[in-house]
Amino acid sequence: MNWIVPLSDVKFGSEEINAVTAVLESGWLTMGEVTAEFEKEFAAYTGAKHALAVSNATVALHMVCLALGIGPGDEVIVPSLTFVATANAVRYTGATPMFADITSENDLTISLASIERALTPRTKAVMVMHYAGYACDMPRILAWAQAHGLPVIEDAAHAAGSFLDGKHLGTWGKVGCFSFFSNKNLSTGEGGMIVTDDDVLAQQFHLLRSHGMTSLTWDRHQGHAWSYDVVAEGYNYRIDEIRSALGREQLRKLPANNTRRRELIALYRDLLAELCPALSVPFLSHPGVSAGHIMPALLPKGADRLRFMEGMKSRGIQTSIHYPPVHTFTSFREGARGADHLPLTDEVAAREVTLPLYPTLTDAQLRLVVEAARDSLRT
Ligand SMILES: Cc1ncc(COP(=O)(O)O)c(C=O)c1O
Repeated sequence: MNWIVPLSDVKFGSEEINAVTAVLESGWLTMGEVTAEFEKEFAAYTGAKHALAVSNATVALHMVCLALGIGPGDEVIVPSLTFVATANAVRYTGATPMFADITSENDLTISLASIERALTPRTKAVMVMHYAGYACDMPRILAWAQAHGLPVIEDAAHAAGSFLDGKHLGTWGKVGCFSFFSNKNLSTGEGGMIVTDDDVLAQQFHLLRSHGMTSLTWDRHQGHAWSYDVVAEGYNYRIDEIRSALGREQLRKLPANNTRRRELIALYRDLLAELCPALSVPFLSHPGVSAGHIMPALLPKGADRLRFMEGMKSRGIQTSIHYPPVHTFTSFREGARGADHLPLTDEVAAREVTLPLYPTLTDAQLRLVVEAARDSLRT
């Protein structure tokens, strides 16, 4: 489909092309100097002690669950209003995701009251997700988790360049996981990063990322090691030098791109209030600085979302839904709490529609989106 305004768009410049070309010319394609530099730069940017680049955020979350000793019989409290990967990572270990509700119609992040209700003697961790890059209530969630001896894992897939009280999201809890998937603010196609200040966990991630091996091909190439032992059941969750090269250039562009995203969100708020007030925009006056990963809006109660999205499509505007709640998926219904336990998630998710947002979206295109939204709601 030829969209007049697509939902998201990624533009690479000569910087990315040159960086990738340099890797190809070097002949060293995986887990080498470029990845080490990417990790160093990401750690410096987020203020984390350790940053480990991985294949994607899903495997990052999986490794975190494994390293925290989560397994069969355990429960992890997760939001239902998230991408399915958040809950899948828990299930890979044999543990059960326990779904919690959102905070309110304005704050779509996980509710502490709902986390409290999901607590059982089997709870081993809480996994929060910073929806669209807006911060969960980390000070209160962390204080509660600490009182219960539970680690907090941050699914920071949306949150590259998000801060709360000047501290980067993903560095508040025990460990944070970022996604560099194609549509993310920092894009490498596929890719991700784990950040933590915990030396022991970081060491475990190194092992789990690469088959539980004590040395890597790169160490041996550099003459640092002749052989290796395998000391844990590990995986191949590595990233390659091509993606790391892309990631380094994207990281340099991240602050400016996120600033433009926030400008666009402010413009959306103004224009929607003027031309299409029936569409409400959550996260008004939300604490912290959001990366502005996506642009969620809520249709009025009773509106036909499918019809609205068809109306937008017929006007050349691509929209999406973030998200169908995970607890409603066939594969999750069994073992999940009854839908009536997540009334806000069910009600708000059914009205959510995501509007186009990306740094190269122009003000004129944004106006087209808002006008199309006004007209689609009328018809
Ligand atoms: C909230 C959330 N968690 C996890 C993931 C998984 O990330 P990845 O695609 O890098 O595995 C995504 C990706 O879209 C996401 O949006």
